Amino acid sequence: MTFIDLRSDTVTKPSAEMRKAMAEAEVGDDVYQEDPTVIELEKLSAEIMGHEAALFVCSGTMGNLVSLLTHCTRGDGAILGINSHIYVNEGGGLSALGGLVPLCVNDDEGIPKPQDVLSYCRPKNVHHAPAKLLCLENTHNACGGVAISPEAFSSMVDLAKSKGLSVHLDGARIFNAAIAWEVEPATYARLVDSVQFCLSKGLGAPMGSVICGNKSYIERARHWRKRVGGGLRQAGVVAAAGIVALKGYRDLANDHEKAKILRDRLANGGVKIAEVSKPTNMVYFEVEDALDVALLAERCKQRGVLFNPTPKKIRLVTHRDVSFEDVEKAAKVILEELRK
Ligand SMILES: Cc1ncc(COP(=O)(O)O)c(C=O)c1O
Repeated sequence: MTFIDLRSDTVTKPSAEMRKAMAEAEVGDDVYQEDPTVIELEKLSAEIMGHEAALFVCSGTMGNLVSLLTHCTRGDGAILGINSHIYVNEGGGLSALGGLVPLCVNDDEGIPKPQDVLSYCRPKNVHHAPAKLLCLENTHNACGGVAISPEAFSSMVDLAKSKGLSVHLDGARIFNAAIAWEVEPATYARLVDSVQFCLSKGLGAPMGSVICGNKSYIERARHWRKRVGGGLRQAGVVAAAGIVALKGYRDLANDHEKAKILRDRLANGGVKIAEVSKPTNMVYFEVEDALDVALLAERCKQRGVLFNPTPKKIRLVTHRDVSFEDVEKAAKVILEELRK
């Protein structure tokens, strides 16, 4: 059976064009900075993000970890959204490996409230872990895949800077945010000190993320990447797919259209869709406590539709490997199974 896989945009497989580019990629030893394809990917990434330099890393988690380790030292505080991927889904790496202290703020709407960030900008005092860094996420995965507006983003960065904080953006899906607001990714990225974005999500590359920042930051990040075992050799083979992915980022608009169809169909069928001020490629909906989500997921799977059986709120993610027809079918299957 072929599945309509709505578990995540990470399930996307490399296209024929990517596989061809991978097969033909010129390579070298990237630890010696001699891989021309990695260098090309990094140059293109820095240009798109409006930064001086870039660094190819294995994953989004590594991109965030290396970024945080580069900004902070042991005992420093990093201000993080309580729902952020860095805080919830990256194995506590910032504390386990970096000795950093997460200073948590409410980010239910995708971006923290100014007063919550300010509450950690305290005068120097031996009792506190000093806040050094603010981490933002855009789009915000756990908050409905919401795209933060350029205005809200920019004023949060201004506030952080006015308090002497550095700012890191977990831009795993920054391209989705830019498309939703019809701006260039650099509109967000150039405001921050560092950004990591993923090639392996909706963009469809088989692996990899890129960190962007100024030259000295990227040099220090290169050292941290090596320390965490992320120095790669002939990585041009995968970077080649990343270049194809990057050049095609505007196609992500289709994923937003597909999510809209899914949202509309489910809502028309009486499903309680989570409201999101600027939605992208994710659809979250609530289910009653009494509903056995694992059973629902299993029944949908038997009919060819996959999603992760998370309690209470179910997430469906659209991407390039599901068609418009697929999302129509998925909505029908989910509605029918919910009514059983
Ligand atoms: C917002 C966000 N940041 C970071 C990551 C981590 O990326 P990776 O799975 O490549 O480590 C993810 C993964 O889904 C994510 O959604």
